[in-house]
Amino acid sequence: MNDASSDAELVAAARAVRAHARAPYSRFQVGSAVRAGSGTIYAGCNVESAAYPLTCCAERVAIYSAVAAGETCITRVAVATSTASSPCGGCRQVIFELGPDAVVLVAGLEGGWRAVSIRTLLPEGFDGRELPQQG
Ligand code: THU
Repeated sequence: MNDASSDAELVAAARAVRAHARAPYSRFQVGSAVRAGSGTIYAGCNVESAAYPLTCCAERVAIYSAVAAGETCITRVAVATSTASSPCGGCRQVIFELGPDAVVLVAGLEGGWRAVSIRTLLPEGFDGRELPQQG
């Protein structure tokens, strides 16, 4: 599979999972799908809580699902919204840590998408190297 058809598959997965978004408060549904290091796709949608700060963004649900399945890195992240919006700052940090060379595919609900590197979205990102090493 070439890059274009594999990206189309990832964007389609992000658009599809958006239907599962739990967004009763914002009414803003988000779908995301990540391509992990193994090549497998993991999908996630935003899940809102009545205790608002507990809400989790679609991108992080997808990434954490990949980690829970044993993946250690991600290469591409698709995000689908009605407004073709790019990921929030918190998700940019998590994407960068799991995939410093990841490409983000920003999509609306149909048609094409825009590809932008996480390093462009998060210049001079904090990657944890500054933290004390354990063990
Ligand atoms: N949201 C995401 O899922 N991803 C983002 O990158 C931005 C925001 C969600 C969180 C919340 O459920 C809704 O969109 C409105 O902020």
